[in-house]
Parts: sequence; structure tokens; C-alpha cells
Amino acid sequence: MDLLLLEKTLLALFVAVVLAITISKLRGKRFKLPPGPMTVPVFGNWLQVGDDLNHRNLTELAKKFGDIFLLRMGQRNLVVVSSPDLAKEVLHTQGVEFGSRTRNVVFDIFTGKGQDMVFTVYGEHWRKMRRIMTVPFFTNKVVQQYRYGWESEAASVVEDVKKNPESSTTGIVLRRRLQLLMYNNMYRIMFDRRFDSEDDPLFVKLKALNGERSRLAQSFEYNYGDFIPILRPFLRGYLKICKEVKERRLKLFKDFFVEERKKLASTKSTDHEGLKCAIDHILDAQQKGEINEDNVLYIVENINVAAIETTLWSIEWGIAELVNHPQIQRKLRNELDTVLGPGAQVTEPDIQKLPYLQAVVKETLRLRMAIPLLVPHMNLNDAKLGGYDIPAESKILVNAWWLANNPANWKKPEEFRPERFLEEESKVEANGNDFRYLPFGVGRRSCPGIILALPILGITIGRLVQNFELLPPPGQSKIDTAEKGGQFSLHILKHSTIVLKPRSF
Ligand code: HEM
Repeated sequence: MDLLLLEKTLLALFVAVVLAITISKLRGKRFKLPPGPMTVPVFGNWLQVGDDLNHRNLTELAKKFGDIFLLRMGQRNLVVVSSPDLAKEVLHTQGVEFGSRTRNVVFDIFTGKGQDMVFTVYGEHWRKMRRIMTVPFFTNKVVQQYRYGWESEAASVVEDVKKNPESSTTGIVLRRRLQLLMYNNMYRIMFDRRFDSEDDPLFVKLKALNGERSRLAQSFEYNYGDFIPILRPFLRGYLKICKEVKERRLKLFKDFFVEERKKLASTKSTDHEGLKCAIDHILDAQQKGEINEDNVLYIVENINVAAIETTLWSIEWGIAELVNHPQIQRKLRNELDTVLGPGAQVTEPDIQKLPYLQAVVKETLRLRMAIPLLVPHMNLNDAKLGGYDIPAESKILVNAWWLANNPANWKKPEEFRPERFLEEESKVEANGNDFRYLPFGVGRRSCPGIILALPILGITIGRLVQNFELLPPPGQSKIDTAEKGGQFSLHILKHSTIVLKPRSF
């Protein structure tokens, strides 16, 4: 055992020397690297900056080192970009060069080394997957086919909340019910099915496995083994759990959803285009030999993570801000009553007539960006950015949160004030028409789900505000909006109890 330790220590020293030489070479004349804190052998900057590279910590580092800086996290290069101009360079002008993704030891497991779409490098496989997913998920036809389903899911939340006497007295953790809504919104699209209640055993299982996957992937716990390869043996236990969760999850998708749908398709005619759900289209692509069975399951995996959690977090943040800003809540309710007439329930086509509702959604996505650093980008080859050399395979983080919350670019950005999107920022849209505001990214790797997320947010938040007065629990003047960040996610730390008082029309 001691011998093994000695061997490891010697190896570490050897790697340290090699790394120190490489860095000094890289920092030398040939390579002009972006500025950054001084590195130490083996660990790079890891000991100084720590594990939690959240948008706020990276903002502090940007204030010190500038709009582009480099962190060396053990063997990994991490380049952080913090200005609209550099964001434009990464996402648009040099969109191909920086259009790949990095994974780490854990994401390698959950995506089968990039057999999915979200975490695959920029190339043929990504292009094919994005094309195959577009018709079943990301068109206006899909929105028009499923919006009735989303409206009915929101109506059933309203109904369930009204039925529960606690809602209007001590309050409820609304998030739990909203989670069911989001699963149903997406499982209707994917598999043309829904779950009846929060206690549905399959829903409970699915939620638990998805939750575990997110926790394991977004945690900082495994950074040391990812950054410093010689420490990887110590991660064996963690990675084993990841593998088990991944296997169980894909098996659940296969046995209970994909196979079920196949069975149904063989007994029913699903030829009629209008009745096809997403998985039917995806299975067609598999049958044509364009993708394999694993790719099918990774598409289901991607939607479970990329679509459900992000939108759920955003709804939760929106509701939290409205609870804490009663005058904004009243103003929104007033708009809904005035434009639609009291009691008329908001539908998808109504949203375009409701500018304040749209502004509330935009402001939520600005202040409480669900993916504040975008999904990490990567350059496959050596590249240039902002006059610096970027070594191949660097992880490129665009601090989209800071772009949208930098007081140099926004008036009092720390305030939740939807009016900004009707007044001084009235031309700014969520689709990336302004590089200061990129909640869904922009360019080749931008979020294709924006077309679904915006109407779902509008319908859900709109219906809740129309039907209830949303309040903090008795004895509290505000709910806690502390944040919890992960590798690149941001959600509310505590799922607060809120009181929902039904309105009488
Ligand atoms: C409020 C909700 C959502 C937010 C804030 C959000 C945000 C994002 C962001 C920031 C990215 C990365 C952009 C980049 O790296 O440049 C992304 C990628 C992605 N999102 Fe979303 N998203 C949301 C909802 C959805 C939904 C509903 C779906 C699917 C139905 C979806 C599917 C995807 C996919 C597949 C990618 C990967 C695209 C690629 O790598 O080519 N997202 N999203």
C-alpha cells in the first residue's frame, strides 16, 4: 500500500514538473495566453479558486483579470468570457471554432461519451441529431399541437391547488405540483402520455432517477479527479454510482416509455401525421438507420434534463419574484384582467397580447438565469480570441448572467423590474438579438427549446397569477431566494412554502 502511495507521489512530482515546463512554454513567446491568476504545479489555479466556479465567483475574477481570463484547473484549461463583444465572437463570429462541447468524467458517463446531442462535439453527429430532433420538438407546429395540453396541465394545477385547503391558509410547496406539470408538458410531447398524480409510482421513480443524475452531474464533489488525472482512482466509487444511475435510467426510458410506445404503434395506426408524438419520429429515424437505439435513449435523456429542469426552475424563480414583489404581481394580474377579461383563462395565442407578462418572463430569465454560464463550449483546435491564443480543447464559459447583470450595461440590474423590457430595453428579445441578454445562448449551439419554453412559462405563470393571490407564508414578509449553483446550473436553494389565495371573479 505504501509502495503504491510512493509510486503515486513520484508520478505526481513527475507530472508537476512536466506541467510546469509546459505552462512556462505556453506562457512564453509562442503562445499568448489570456491573463489569469498565477498557477502552481499540478493544481494550476485550483487551490486558489476552489471548486465552486459559479457565475458570481467568476464575475469577481473577471473584475480582477478582465473580460477574458484563463484558469488552469489541474490539467483542464478554462477560459471565461465576460463581455458582449467576446460573447459574440465565441457564439457567432467564430461559432464553428467554439461550437464544440467539453465533457468531464461524469458527463462522459451520462452521455455515453457524447452519443447524445447536447454534449457532443460540433460535427456530423451533432448536425444529424439536431436535424432529427427539430421536427418532433422544435417547430411552431409542435407548439400548436401541444399548447392545449400545456393549458390543460396549468388548469389542473389551478384546480388541485384550489382543492387543497392548506393552499390558502398555511401554504404549500407549489414547486412539487409544478414539477408534475413540467413532466406532463414534456412527456405529452415525447410519448403522448401524462402522469395522473404526484404519487404515480412511475413518476416517482423517474423523478428520483433524474434528480440523482442531476445531483451527481452538477456536483463539484468530483472536480479533483476530473482536474487531476492521477487522483482519478479515488473517484472510482463515485463513477460507479454514476454508471449505475445511468444504466437504470436508460433502462427505465426504454422499458416503460419507448417500448410501450412501440407496442402501441403496432396495434394502432399512427400513420396520421397529426397524431405522431416525438418518439414516433425519432424511431422512424432509427428505422431508416440514421441513428441507433442508444442515440434514441440519449435523446430522451437530453429532453429529461435540458427541458424539464430548466423550465421548472424558471417557473419557480418567476413565482418567487412575484411573491416578493406584490406590486408587480398586481400589475400583471391587472393586465391579464384588462386584456382578457376577468376569468378568461390565458392561452398560448394570448401571450402576444400581454406585454407585461412577457416582460415578467424576460426579467425572470435575466436576473435568475437557469443556465448562467451557458452549457460549456469548447474549441477542438487551437484558436484566437480577443487577441489571445486559446489552446485546443479549452472549456469556454460565457458568463451570460454577468452580461445581463453588469451595471455598466443595465440600469440597476440587481432590481427585479420587468418594466425595463417595456422601457429602456424594449427591443431586447430572449432569442439573442442583443449580446447582453442570452438566457438561451445564441448561434449554432443555442437552445432550440426556446420555442417551447417561452409559451409554457407564459401560460403557467399567467394562469397562477390570474387565479390566485400569491403570498409568503403567514408571519413571513418574503420568501427566501438564496441561489444554489452547480457545474453550470442555477436554481433556488429552498423550495419555499407559499400561500395561494383563490380569487373570486
Ligand atoms: C427556461 C427554459 C430553458 C433555458 C433557460 C434553456 C437554456 C439553454 C442554454 C443556455 C443552452 C446552451 C446554449 C449554449 O451553449 O450556447 C441550452 C441548450 C439546449 N437546450 Fe435549452 N433551455 C431551456 C429549455 C429547453 C427546452 C424546453 C428544451 C427542449 C424541449 C431545451 C433543449 C435544449 C437542447 C437540446 C440544448 C442543446 C443544444 C445544442 O447543444 O446544440 N431547452 N438551453
